[in-house]
Formats: sequence, structure tokens, C-alpha cells
Amino acid sequence: MDPAIWWYVTRSSAIIAWALMVISVMWGILLATRVMKPKDSPGWLLDLHRWMSGLSVVFVGLHMFSLYMDNFAHFTIPDLFVPFHSQYAKVASLGPWPVALGVLCFYIMIAVQGTSLMMKKLPRKYWKAIHYSSYVLVLVVSFHAGWSGTDVRAWAYRITALVLIFITTVALIVRILFPKPAKTLAATVEGRRPNQNVANKHNLAITKTYSAAAGIMGIDFITPMQEVMPAWVPGSHITLHLPNGLQRQYSLCSDPADRTHYSVAVLNSPNSRGGSSWIHENLKSGMTIEVSGPHNHFELEAAQEYLFVAGGIGITPMKAMIDSLPQRRTWRLLYAGRSRSSMAFVDELVAEHGSRVIVHADDEQGGHPDLDALLAGFDGHVYVCGPEPLLNAMIQRVPAQRLHFERFSAVDRDAGEAEQFEVTLSRSHKTVTVGKDESLLDAINANGGALISSCGEGVCGTCEVRVLKGTPVHLDSVMSDEDKDAIGVMYPCISRSIGKDLVLDI
Ligand code: FES
Repeated sequence: MDPAIWWYVTRSSAIIAWALMVISVMWGILLATRVMKPKDSPGWLLDLHRWMSGLSVVFVGLHMFSLYMDNFAHFTIPDLFVPFHSQYAKVASLGPWPVALGVLCFYIMIAVQGTSLMMKKLPRKYWKAIHYSSYVLVLVVSFHAGWSGTDVRAWAYRITALVLIFITTVALIVRILFPKPAKTLAATVEGRRPNQNVANKHNLAITKTYSAAAGIMGIDFITPMQEVMPAWVPGSHITLHLPNGLQRQYSLCSDPADRTHYSVAVLNSPNSRGGSSWIHENLKSGMTIEVSGPHNHFELEAAQEYLFVAGGIGITPMKAMIDSLPQRRTWRLLYAGRSRSSMAFVDELVAEHGSRVIVHADDEQGGHPDLDALLAGFDGHVYVCGPEPLLNAMIQRVPAQRLHFERFSAVDRDAGEAEQFEVTLSRSHKTVTVGKDESLLDAINANGGALISSCGEGVCGTCEVRVLKGTPVHLDSVMSDEDKDAIGVMYPCISRSIGKDLVLDI
């Protein structure tokens, strides 16, 4: 065997590992900043980032092994793993520093890789802090490679080194100039769009269940293959298709920019009809469950100033909205509940946002929050989610064009005496007669439709369909009638029509 073979392996594996590290960090930066959006896709960026960094570990291992095998370099095991143990010095004036930095890089790389493999189990802030050391890693590796290789004076090596340093520098500049992923704002990212009654079911794995407050269970979901979660905007909800046949909607309450998982918080309702109680009794970490969505009927519109008003479990969509707002946006949150112990995320919100969060716990302050004082002089947009009395109080005080709300339960809308009517299903070219005692949804499904539904009372929005023609009689509580007409949708589980002119996109 050529006695120099291990020298060749040492040098080539070192250069390949260096290049892979640089490209991996660059890919990580593209993933974090999304500067290539919309041409890129987080899925393949993440896969490539992981593969590159995994491969760089393999080549670093080969580099170290070949150093040990090379009779010329004479590296011992302690030389490879203990900084400053090796006295090898290509540049005499720098002493053992370049090699010692190489050993240090090895440990940083192991820390970054190890924490990435355990990412789902670690608090995100710790993972992030360690992951940021990748930037230090690529810079220190450049120094190690530049001053300890036996071929540092070769032109080919110098050109390669310059290209890698150039890529590293550009990537770091991009990271500094685009420090955050584009925070999602409903109005700018996805816009308002009907859910088209598409079940879009997929399996998600439960990674964590925890007590978010007394009687409230927090649940985190990931895809079974731990892929990047589909994008969503604040105010969105997902539908859990429970094994007992029930479907229940829950607002996503994590940061929409965090695509590693979905989070919901479920109140064990005393009036549960088998949904929330089943979840509290049966859902466990490690289970897989069918989920559809996210869908959104409570979108955060662009505004200069917001007031969020949450009652009890109504905090969940508000939390996602707050997380999605840029730091400098002006907002306040009134969070009302019976007691702090029953208010999910209350400590976290106060700790993170200080005086922007006004907490009203009945057992501390007593009575109701002073909404008039809260609204005095405020002319921004108001978002409300909570029990009916709180919603009604806000509806009485805030003009409709500035008020956005999501209900927990249906409003009793007086529709008068129900009449028989006809509806045309445009895709199947059928005309269906809806009897005065049956719902439009039932009539459609009895005639070959396959509309999904959940609440059956016009609250959840699951059964949404597009209206192509005609004038529906809206009886739901999903959103304002003006909004439904503006985007051309209706909810056939409860809403109806008059006469024969209704045409639906089914
Ligand atoms: S099924 Fe919930 S709105 Fe129709």
C-alpha cells in the first residue's frame, strides 16, 4: 500500500468535511431566514441541512481516524481528543493552537449534532443556543484548516479555502440582515380563503401532553416522520378526529413561525358531550391521531394597534396571534378567568410581555373587568375569544368593522318558520330539494354529497361550502354574515335558503 495513502485520506476528508459544514450552515441559514421564499420549500431545505451536517460528522470521523493511522503525523488517541495535547505545528509561531481548535470544533460539532437529534425532547431555547454555535464552528474550522494542513500553500487548496470562507461570510451576512423568519400575518401570508370542505385528514403523533392549567391539557403534535409542519396563520384551528367517532376543533396556540410542531390546549368542559372528556381521559404521548386542517375562520388582519380580549380557554388563538406579531407592533391583552390556576399560559405571557398583559382573575379582583376603561380612547382592532357574556359586552362597545371574534357556542338566531327550498349542486349537476325539517347538509349528503361536519350547529366552520349563486340565509355563528358573503361561503349544517336560486360548488 502507498505509505502516503493515509495522508491523502486525512487531507481529502478534512476538505470535504469543511465544505459540508459550510454548506450545511448555509442551508440552515436559508431555512431560518427563508430568503429564497417562495422558491424554496422548508421540507427539502431541512432534509438537505440534516444530511449535510450528518455527512460532515462522518468525514470528520474519517479525518480523525486517518490521522491516527498515518505514520507520518503520529497522532495518538489523546492527541485527537484532548486540546493542546498534540504538539504538531505546521506554523511554528502559532504553536499547538490550530490543532487544539480542531479538537474544540469536534466537540462543538458533537454538541450541535447531539442536541439536534434530541431536538424534540429539549426546551427549544437550549437547542437554539447550542445550534447557534454552528456559526462559531465554521469560523474556527476555517482557522484550523488554514493553519494546520500540510497543503496550505498549494493553489488548489487556497482557492478551495477562499471559496468556503467567502460562502461562510455571505451566509453570515444574510443571517444578520434577515434575523427572523417572516412572522406570519394572516392578511399577508394566506389571506382569507374558504376551507372548501376538504377533510385533508392526516395522522399526527402526540409528542407531549401536559397540564397547561387546572382542567386544561396542553397537547403537542408532530408528523410521524418529524417533517416540517404545514404552514398556518394565527387564529387557525385543527380538527381532531377522535377514535370514538367525534370531531372536535381546537385553536393552534404555538408560534406560527415554529414549524416543528402544532400545539393545542383542551379544557375539560363540565358540559362535555364526549369530546374534551375523552381527550383528557385517553390521549397520551406516543399516540397517533387523525387530524384535519389547519383551517382559519378567525384571521388576524394587518393593523397598527391591537387589543386582544381573552376569556378562559379563549386565550389559545390569542396566544398564537401575539406570538406572530413583530416585536414593535402595539398591542395589549386583557386575559380574564376565574383564577390564575385555571388560566392557561398566564405566567408565561406575563413573564414574556410584562405590562402589555392585563390579568383579571375573578378570585383576586372580583367582579368583571372594566371594559369601558380598557377601550377608552382606543381605536385599533379588537380580537375577542371567550364566553358569550364577554363577547356580547364587546359587541355592544366596539364598532363591527374593528371587532373580530370567535365563539365557543352557537348564537340563537331567529330564522322564523323553516321552508322547503331547492339547491343545485354544480359539480354533480343535481338539484336537491331540502325539506323544511331537514338540514341542507343532510339533504346534500343523502344525494351523494360527502360533506364533512362536526358541531352541527354552525360554530366550528367544518362544513363550509362555496356559494356560486343565490342568497343563503345564514344562521351560523362562525363569522359575520358580511364576511361570509364577501368570501362566498355558507355553513349548510344550519344555514338555509329561500326559493330555487342557490347553487353550491359541490
Ligand atoms: S358542522 Fe360546524 S359549522 Fe357546520
